[in-house]
Amino acid sequence: MSEARNILVTSALPYANGSIHLGHMVETVQTDIWVRFQKQRGHNCTYVCADDAHGTAIMLRAEQLGLDPEQQIAQVNEEHQTDFSGFLIGFDNFYSTHSPENQRLSSEIYKTLKAKGKIAERSITQAYDEEKGLFLADRYVKGTCPKCKAADQYGDNCEACSATYSPMDLIDPISVHSGTRPVPKESKHLFFKLPEYTEFLKQWTRAGHLQDEVANKLSEWLEGGLKEWDISRDAPYFGFEIPGEKDKFFYVWLDAPIGYMASFENFCNSPEGAHLNFDDYWKQDSQCELYHFIGKDIVNFHALFWPAILKETGHRTPTKVCVHGFLTVDGKKMSKSRGTFVNASTYLKHLNPEYLRYYYATKLTGGVDDIDLNTDDFVQRVNSDLVGKVINIASRTAKFIGKAGGELSSNIADPELWQKFVDANASIAELYEQREFSKAMREIMALADAANEYIAAQAPWSLAKQEGNEQLVQDVCTLGINCFKVLMTYLKPVLPNTATASEAFLNSPLPWPEHIEFLGAHQINTFKPLMSRVDADKVKAMIEESVELAPKANPEPAAVASADNDWLSKEPIADEITFDDFAKVDLRIVLIANAEHVEGASKLLRLTLDLGNGETRNVFAGIKSAYKPEDLIGKHTVMVANLKPRKMKFGMSEGMVLAAGPGKSELYILEPNDGAQPGMRVM
Ligand code: 2FM
Ligand code: ZN
Repeated sequence: MSEARNILVTSALPYANGSIHLGHMVETVQTDIWVRFQKQRGHNCTYVCADDAHGTAIMLRAEQLGLDPEQQIAQVNEEHQTDFSGFLIGFDNFYSTHSPENQRLSSEIYKTLKAKGKIAERSITQAYDEEKGLFLADRYVKGTCPKCKAADQYGDNCEACSATYSPMDLIDPISVHSGTRPVPKESKHLFFKLPEYTEFLKQWTRAGHLQDEVANKLSEWLEGGLKEWDISRDAPYFGFEIPGEKDKFFYVWLDAPIGYMASFENFCNSPEGAHLNFDDYWKQDSQCELYHFIGKDIVNFHALFWPAILKETGHRTPTKVCVHGFLTVDGKKMSKSRGTFVNASTYLKHLNPEYLRYYYATKLTGGVDDIDLNTDDFVQRVNSDLVGKVINIASRTAKFIGKAGGELSSNIADPELWQKFVDANASIAELYEQREFSKAMREIMALADAANEYIAAQAPWSLAKQEGNEQLVQDVCTLGINCFKVLMTYLKPVLPNTATASEAFLNSPLPWPEHIEFLGAHQINTFKPLMSRVDADKVKAMIEESVELAPKANPEPAAVASADNDWLSKEPIADEITFDDFAKVDLRIVLIANAEHVEGASKLLRLTLDLGNGETRNVFAGIKSAYKPEDLIGKHTVMVANLKPRKMKFGMSEGMVLAAGPGKSELYILEPNDGAQPGMRVM
């Protein structure tokens, strides 16, 4: 085995004001599988996490519950730990960002930044709730959009017309906390001078620490220009006071990632972590590896702010930031009314955690695509793969070994089949390493198929009926048990409980060496059922129970580098509409008669669309990043012809053209087949 690596791994810290749900579990299951794999391979891998305990949302939630924030976060911490351990997440340490270690580390880091001239100070004006005595983040102000007059819009942008503005621009703004009208109020804020790190970040984001699609997205932000990052919040705020300031607190996102360090330090100072040295992992020239697993909504914090801060303060930067997509359930966003917003604890009441761990493994890749939990497919896949294929191998062969006294033969009945299992080792290990779990599961199941085919062809149950076949039956079943052993070795990171039960049955541990040995002339124990089938009624019961359970998670408003936060999401299918609803949309074939740049618009092209019969429309389309105007002229496409004209900064837009794509920089306009003429209705 190559030399043991020293690896520190983190999952994003869940907010301490909401329950863990199946969306969180995508990340912790992904991380835990990766960590268990590393440990099984003999590496020194440490997995830490914590609750993200600071911020206004947590302060207000505690107030609502009539608790001190400290009491509230302690309760949630216990609940989170119970949920995670229910899903077999093997943290080495689960801590809280509201800790003495984090306060010291955050203060030290801040003081270093300040001493190095990296903190700017200036006054800003914000909406202020006089009744509550609270500055209001944009999403805590609601009112009527100043542009399109849509009611009940948040303080940063309008969901109806996409206009962006500041909260005090809303018509009749109100604070969501008190219902009173906020007033503008000035206060001093502290900013981290992020733009100074642009060149460093341009290089760092392309140096192999990120997936390509993530690096591409960050380049857009880096090219667009970074802004200074506001790291202070005024009292009242639940967090750490900023050294040298009065009534100013670190913004929750400043001390949250430092919480990774703090949790690790706390572990190093515990008996279980006493063999680890904090500086070995965090000093600038560290030879250890550092992996952060996160969702794509918080990339800017981990791949811009965080490396810049670490570098400036004499720390190492992450080896990799591993970004995953979001969870959809049955193809749609998780929804309370449909019962698909399932809390971890609700799942665990009804179902075995390993079912979901395996199902997620069959879906997870090294990319950032969203993953879908399809409830029918879930039942079918787990039953067919784990129960029907893997466990079946042991249950079909163990009884014959048992009848013969429980001792495995030393003969390898089919060396070719055995070799196949042994040879798959390196490629499956590499797939785990690259987080290509879905491919790994496919390879493992292909091996299970091969073993089942072999057993079916040999049919030990028929052989056993004829005298004189005892050795052959023993050899065939020994190979079956050995195939099972290899499969469980490869599945151990995903199915830790079943692996432990299998170790007891096999009377042998399941490490993952570079060369897997055949278990021959070895006594095994009596086979007991290792996993039961998923009962579809239990899935139904879980969904029914979830219908009424409100999601409590309440994310802290994020001061992101870009509002464009749902990049690369595969849009879940929207809610059902009737045919009559659909028929209201008048889609027409049009000819793009002209296309041109719009002065001052970074995303728009002005299109002149010919609807036939001499009718033309002027439409502004946000497709500039994807098309040159000259390439569009003469193409046919589809437009929504009865969309109410919208007044835009650059003129009236009289409809819209249809385009598809995964993100804002990758778009494809729809083109009809030859023969479709301008003016024809699309139906
Ligand atoms: O988005 C979130 O849920 C944050 N609580 C994640 C924090 S991760 C880290 F930076 F602390
Ligand atoms: Zn609007």
